[in-house]
Amino acid sequence: MDVDELLDESKQSVDNLVYCLENDDPEFLKLLAETASSVLEEHCGKGVYLRGLIEFSNVCVRDCLYCGIRRSNSEATRFSLTKEEIVDCAVWCAAQGFGSVVLQSGERTDEKFVDFVARVVEAIKARTVSDVLPQGIGVTLCVGEQSREVYQRLFEAGAHRYLLRIETTNPELYRNLHPEEPPLNNRIDCLRALKEVGYQVGTGVMIDLPGQTSEDLIADILFFRDEDIDMIGMGPYIPHYSTPMGKAFRDDSSRAERALKKGLKMIALTRIVLRDVNIAATTALQALDPFGREKGLQCGANVMMPLVTPPSVRKNYQLYEGKPCLDDAASQCSLCTKKRIEIVGRNIVENVWGDSPHYFRRT
Ligand code: 5AD
Repeated sequence: MDVDELLDESKQSVDNLVYCLENDDPEFLKLLAETASSVLEEHCGKGVYLRGLIEFSNVCVRDCLYCGIRRSNSEATRFSLTKEEIVDCAVWCAAQGFGSVVLQSGERTDEKFVDFVARVVEAIKARTVSDVLPQGIGVTLCVGEQSREVYQRLFEAGAHRYLLRIETTNPELYRNLHPEEPPLNNRIDCLRALKEVGYQVGTGVMIDLPGQTSEDLIADILFFRDEDIDMIGMGPYIPHYSTPMGKAFRDDSSRAERALKKGLKMIALTRIVLRDVNIAATTALQALDPFGREKGLQCGANVMMPLVTPPSVRKNYQLYEGKPCLDDAASQCSLCTKKRIEIVGRNIVENVWGDSPHYFRRT
């Protein structure tokens, strides 16, 4: 089939999409990237939005088998930034022209934690109001599965976007990844609750997981579409050798290249099927290829998340092996991200939240 045909919704069948995901012909990949870029330009423009990523704590009550900060990993040195440290990072981001920050941490559901996050969000909003950001910097939360009441409380504190990856929509694979955690349905309920509370909702999956098929990945894209998701962040699975999954992982010399290609094709296909959502070029792409994130931008992504976590704790927030920028300072990450975006001929849109056009269409 021709890539062009994919633009016709009636041609976006599982079979056709699986065919595209499995096609490694370089000419085909080029056409796929070009098609995704034209869909992006038509529905969202060519601008790239920056979100400063603040990893504020690696304390986690979950025991996900793939994740380096899982509860049982006794090799991880645990840390939590103070409210002042987090607010300082956000104020710095606002001064850089980043319109948004993402606050990400390990998962906790205790009252002390929820209250802390709410107070941090309130302080960030109060401290970042300016002429260019009259409502303060945009705050996206990424703090896991919580109750609807907690989502409501954090929304009222001023967060307006929330990221919660579904990881995989195959229930059996989901259970294998999270044998001791709540089932897949719980996470789907969380995504629906987030939407009802009023957040712009982001989700995503890990790509090239052991046991994951092309059909699974295409089902993931159709899930994003059917759940009316606003934002997507997804990247290749990368083993972390102090986790059960990483220990059992059988690496091979072609893995990085294969996982990267699959990740890029997933971004392109998601752009073509979902059209007007925000899609991040994630750090995991960069862990596999020094230009992985730029390649993501060329396949239809329009968001980048420069790391602004203080360098002293970055090494303790390793979800997977080979995380880039471990020793850099935030200012280096900011400059480097800006340069990288310019190199691929895209422009950064500064001092705006950069909300997903899809959110405005669905509401
Ligand atoms: N490889 C790639 N991504 C990972 N994540 C966690 N562990 C890994 C890993 N080993 C991702 C999950 C999670 C997000 C914050 O990081 O998708 O939702």
